[in-house]
Amino acid sequence: MTSIPTLYDTTLAAGPGARVLVETEAGVRQADLYSPDGLALVAGLWLKLSAEYGLMYGGSWLGVPIIQLPGDIVAMQELLWKTRPDVVVECGFAHGGSAVLYASILELLGKGVVIGVDVEVRRHNRAAVESHPLSKRIRIVEGSSIDPRTVSAVGKAAEGAASVLVVLDSNHDREHVLAEMEAYHGLVTPDSYLVAMDGAQAHVWDVPRAKPGWRDSNPLQAIEAFLAAHPEFDEDPRYHRGLVTSSPRGFLRRKRQGEASWNW
Ligand SMILES: C[S@@+](CC[C@H](N)C(=O)[O-])C[C@H]1O[C@@H](n2cnc3c(N)ncnc32)[C@H](O)[C@@H]1O
Repeated sequence: MTSIPTLYDTTLAAGPGARVLVETEAGVRQADLYSPDGLALVAGLWLKLSAEYGLMYGGSWLGVPIIQLPGDIVAMQELLWKTRPDVVVECGFAHGGSAVLYASILELLGKGVVIGVDVEVRRHNRAAVESHPLSKRIRIVEGSSIDPRTVSAVGKAAEGAASVLVVLDSNHDREHVLAEMEAYHGLVTPDSYLVAMDGAQAHVWDVPRAKPGWRDSNPLQAIEAFLAAHPEFDEDPRYHRGLVTSSPRGFLRRKRQGEASWNW
């Protein structure tokens, strides 16, 4: 966990004429701070710093550790409230915090269950979720998300549900995410979403703490390949309007039957 810096320097004046200048090994980029370019530049840098300092770690949802940036938690809340799913499939359960987040919204909706999949569910994480007040809305499936036995178990658990939403947040290699997208997109009901998380790896592979391999294999590449092969899905940019997100271009909506293209 990062030590929390002193927040904001009151002597930092940045009026209408302020410019932002970034010097990197590739050269100098600059823009008017308050222009769209300035916003894009600062948001891109903030994303890199979020990755460097691990700002998605250290939080919890209703007592269970969650690995998400705050804006992405808000986005998922909006998405669940809008789609009102009967089943949320989550690949990448980890400590269970995101499953508890989704279950807490389902509880307010008065229906639904989260199917949390992970290749390894640690005993203490399982115990914490199974003893949680929201445990009745969470089922845990242990196994690799792309193992046909897992895919089949999840499919059975989701059978007959009127509305299904799928979230992919497990192994973020391109091939693995693409395999998950192919395995689970069929469960997503019209007007609901396939959410592929952590496409931000494509933008943060260069930060000191990152893995340089993220440049060549990341979820964003899987998203692009999936969309090229699946015109029945459309990107919905509203859920990363806060700009600093782990999941740029990751919110894919399944079109309704006969719908040509979604007009955002
Ligand atoms: C980034 S964490 C998930 C974070 C969690 N969704 C949250 O928001 O708190 C990734 C998880 O994916 C799991 N994982 C990795 N490979 C997997 C696979 N092939 N199938 C299922 N889960 C996998 C890891 O064990 C890890 O718990």
